Amino acid sequence: MTATTDMKAMTSTADRTAIAPFRGRVAMITGGGSGIGRATALRYAKGGGTVIVCGRRPEPLAETAELIRGAGGRAGTFSLDVRDADEVRRVVDEIRGRHGRIDALVNNAAGNFVAPAEKLSANGWRAVIDIVLNGTFYCTRAAADVMLEQGSGSVLSVIASYAWTGHPGTVHSAAAKAGVLAMTRTLAAEWASRGVRLNCIAPGPTATEGAGQALWPDGDSHRRVVDSVPAGRFASPEEIADIAAFLLEDRSAYITGEVLTADGGQWLGRQVYGVPLGREG
Ligand code: HXC
Repeated sequence: MTATTDMKAMTSTADRTAIAPFRGRVAMITGGGSGIGRATALRYAKGGGTVIVCGRRPEPLAETAELIRGAGGRAGTFSLDVRDADEVRRVVDEIRGRHGRIDALVNNAAGNFVAPAEKLSANGWRAVIDIVLNGTFYCTRAAADVMLEQGSGSVLSVIASYAWTGHPGTVHSAAAKAGVLAMTRTLAAEWASRGVRLNCIAPGPTATEGAGQALWPDGDSHRRVVDSVPAGRFASPEEIADIAAFLLEDRSAYITGEVLTADGGQWLGRQVYGVPLGREG
């Protein structure tokens, strides 16, 4: 093969990979019935992959799968509470049985509420730690059995910048998400030589229904959130999904144990000495 034909072959492979980076691949996405999870599922399917969306409520999962199939993609659903390690194992085994592989796991399922620490019961603490930290470990541990055996795979966990900055009212969630980051880095080092990589994405305020209801239910709170972002706007779920897709693609094959923050500069623009930084006016 000459250098020119060699280059042509490479280009056409690169073009195909650019158009359908997930062709022949299978992703498991927790919390895939809404928000960032749903957008990421649609994005993975658009990239040619088969998506299995998991979550506690079957109706939103079915809707995500319908949207994917309506657009000509491939999708399946599983009702799953990530707090149940045995159920997680059963779902992963079924996905492996039906599809033969798992190339991507997106740990997007979350349980969250804002509460001052002195109002937080042991049960409230446990609920969030169970969903976010334990659930992420159960899913990662089970999917990794498949990925390590096939010698490839990418795990992406959705966290938030308060995992490293801390934030009032989020002690349970911040501790859980910091744990997910530490887990990601630890397992990235353990599994890099075996083709399995793990990363986190830390989205800032994203225009999803769930977060909106919980965190910016009215005009005032909405404005306060926008004012806290130097970029002056919310992210769309689709743009977060696009970044998630990059971290699942082979283009990011040399990135592992990282966290990619996509927050319009929010955590960098926090107030210091009462002076708002990062945004003029
Ligand atoms: C104080 C609260 C509370 C609140 C629940 N609890 N909400 N305490 N303030 N607002 C306490 C309950 O009183 C109870 O403790 C314990 O938490 C468990 O609550 P349950 O409702 O029984 O648990 P469960 O049904 O398992 O629900 C889990 C959950 C819930 C985490 C509490 O919010 C959930 O499932 N959420 C899933 C969807 C979600 O959170 N989406 C948010 C995405 S937005 P007691 O002692 O009374 O028994 C997002 C953006 C970042 O993540 C958010 C930044 C913070």
